[in-house]
Amino acid sequence: MSKTATISYDGNSWELPVVVGTENEAGIDISTLRASTGLITLDSGYGNTGACQSNITFIDGEQGILRYRGYPIDELAERSTFIESAYLLIFGELPTMAQAQEFSDLLTRHQFIHEDMLHHFDGFPHDAPPMAILSAMVNALGCYQPLFLQIEDDDHFAEVAARLMSKVRTIAAASYRKTIGRPINYPRSDLRYTANFLHMMFSLPYKPYEPSDAAVSALDKLLLLHADHEQNCSTSTVRMVGSAQATLHASIAAGVCALWGPLHGGANTAVIKMLQELQASGEKLESFVERVKKGDKNARLMGFGHRVYKNFDPRANIIKRACDRVLDTLGIHDPQLELAKRLEEIALKDDYFVSRKLYPNVDYYSGIIMKAIGIPVDMFTVMFAIGRLPGWIAHWREVRTGASARIDRPRQIYTGPTLRKYVDIHGRNGIVTPQKKAS
Ligand code: CMC
Repeated sequence: MSKTATISYDGNSWELPVVVGTENEAGIDISTLRASTGLITLDSGYGNTGACQSNITFIDGEQGILRYRGYPIDELAERSTFIESAYLLIFGELPTMAQAQEFSDLLTRHQFIHEDMLHHFDGFPHDAPPMAILSAMVNALGCYQPLFLQIEDDDHFAEVAARLMSKVRTIAAASYRKTIGRPINYPRSDLRYTANFLHMMFSLPYKPYEPSDAAVSALDKLLLLHADHEQNCSTSTVRMVGSAQATLHASIAAGVCALWGPLHGGANTAVIKMLQELQASGEKLESFVERVKKGDKNARLMGFGHRVYKNFDPRANIIKRACDRVLDTLGIHDPQLELAKRLEEIALKDDYFVSRKLYPNVDYYSGIIMKAIGIPVDMFTVMFAIGRLPGWIAHWREVRTGASARIDRPRQIYTGPTLRKYVDIHGRNGIVTPQKKAS
């Protein structure tokens, strides 16, 4: 029997349908609410709003569960590769051997960017933020691709997805080379996705970079762990822009900008900066934690807390273990890892963090792994973007092929001035009326 919820207001009541997902998450379908009651719902930050039905990724934040298309993240991280999981996210199933080979061939075939695009890099100052370059270059890339995609056709879409994933990686490495004033490295056809990226980042004309298995495997895992996270800020951005039937490239360029923010993907950079500052100042960790708790605007425990996880972020646990392993294998002793671990220990014993259910998130240890591999701090969020790309592509496609595809257009509760009479410029008194702060 289908379930309903009852809403009462002003002496009237209405029945609203309840939609139940495959993991029994239930949501009240309020799509007819305004038409029948005149009311809308208000949920700033969307903490309680289901914006869509999606079959890509499942999260249970209370239990610390994350699954891509039904497969647990720890199993994928242990047994799969980034590219295989990307295929899973975009097409719904893990690839067969033949499909994996075909997709890998497509990635190799499309790894070059048009030579003309290399000139675009000259337009950026040498210290331009890499996420700004990435977003601009993804949009520019769109100009070199056919605008109209056969979104429903799997073969065609595999080519579209592979082309974008492969070229974004090439763009990311090229932007780094540009910022350090070194020649751009062309991709190599004999290297797989992640090793090829490291070659493009670090090879020198006189010395090809030979990445260690440990570095390749740690980075591949990191990309896999970032590949999707349901309706996060950047993915919701991609979906919203895509809902206006904007192109794949335009939608993803917007997603890159959203990810750039320090409360989202920018947190991996912010964590390392926080640890660097703590090292440099020598401030006691307990005193830093006290400042965090007091809400000192210069002290937030970056890499901690999550809108959805009210338990350990399963990705953080996997990354923490990978971090120990890769540093060990590469023979690196990083005092920042020790510092991060002590800070975590202090926070997790403190009632402020315990009562608010604040745990380390995906960004807490990922920077330490990237640093060990040699990736500069400024590129951390770009790495997150390369990882998140398959998720964005999968969500964009879901929006564009969805049965109920409509443009996203939220409503609001207006809190500004009521009707005012227009005053001619000579009659204005210049006094600014304090406005009620919008929440
Ligand atoms: N340090 C100190 N206090 C915190 C933190 C933190 N990292 N995170 C949350 N709180 C406090 C917050 O001040 C609030 O306290 P109170 O109830 O006294 O006002 C309470 O915990 C609830 O937090 P919130 O701000 O309502 O939580 P939110 O769901 O709006 O924000 C968040 C989630 C991830 C933006 C936030 O936890 C945060 O700012 N964390 C640090 C930045 C970070 O690590 N971001 C990466 C997120 S995971 C990857 C990704 O999404 O890209």
